[in-house]
Amino acid sequence: MAKIVHREEMAQGTIILNEIEALRISRKAKPGQFVILQADETGERIPLTMADTNPDKGTITIIYMVVGKSTARFKQLQVGDEYFALIGPLGAPTHIENFGKVVCVGGGTGIAVLHPITRALKQAGNEVTTILGARTYDLLIMEEKMRAVSDHFHICTDDGSHGHHGFVTDVLKDVLEKDDINLAVAIGPIPMMKFCSLITKEKNVKTFVSLNPIMVDGTGMCGCCRVSVGGATKFACVDGPEFDGHKVDFDELAKRLASYLDEEKASMKTFEN
Ligand code: FES
Repeated sequence: MAKIVHREEMAQGTIILNEIEALRISRKAKPGQFVILQADETGERIPLTMADTNPDKGTITIIYMVVGKSTARFKQLQVGDEYFALIGPLGAPTHIENFGKVVCVGGGTGIAVLHPITRALKQAGNEVTTILGARTYDLLIMEEKMRAVSDHFHICTDDGSHGHHGFVTDVLKDVLEKDDINLAVAIGPIPMMKFCSLITKEKNVKTFVSLNPIMVDGTGMCGCCRVSVGGATKFACVDGPEFDGHKVDFDELAKRLASYLDEEKASMKTFEN
C-alpha cells in the first residue's frame, strides 16, 4: 500500500514530488483536501494537500519541501518504496463555483496546493489570473501546469531572475487596481498569505487561504491544529484547511508553527549523524 510509482526532484532537490498508489483516495478526493503520511512506524504524521489525483490510474500526487527530519526521511523513499501509512482524503474541499474573475496567488509548495483549485475554478468558468512567486526562478515549481489553467499569468522573483522583480503582492495590487476581481485565493508561506489578505481586504475582495498548522490525528480529536479565525478557535483539519484570509490570526499561527523549532533542529542533527 501507498507505493511510490513516480518521483521527481524539483527546485534543486529541495522540493520532492511523489505520485503514490492510493486508489480509494484518488477516487474520493476533491480540490483542497489533504492526506496525512507517515514514513515509518515511529515517524511524524505529516499533512500534505494533494497537488493532483488520477482516478484512472488510482494515484495521488503530493509535493513537499524538505525542511526537517520527517521530510528528509520522506526524501529517502524512492520509486517502489512504500509509505508506512497514508490516510485521507481529509479536510473540507474548496468551494468551487463560477465567481466571475478570480486571482490565484501561490508561493513555494503552496503552488502545488493551488494547482487543483485553480484548475477547478477554471473548469467552473472563471476568468483566472495567476500570480506565482519564488525567491529565485530555479525554485519556482509547476510553471507550465499553472499556466495551462490560467487566462492571465504572472511570475515574480525576489531576485529578479525571471518575471517581475519583487513580491507577488506588488502584482496583486496592480491586478486589483486594474480589474474587478470577485475572489482571491492565496496559498503559500504565512507572510505571503497575510500580506495578500491585507491587500484584498482593502479592496473588499473575498479571499481564501489554506493553512498548514502542525497536525496529529487530522480528524478533529487532538486540538493540535487549532487556529484563530475571526476570534473563534477552529480546527484546520476539519473546519479547514481553507479559511477566510481576512479573519485569520496569521501571527498566532506563525508562533504556533515555531513552537517546536529547537526540538526539530535537534532531531535533524541526530538524523544527519
Ligand atoms: Fe488533531 Fe486537527 S489535527 S484536531
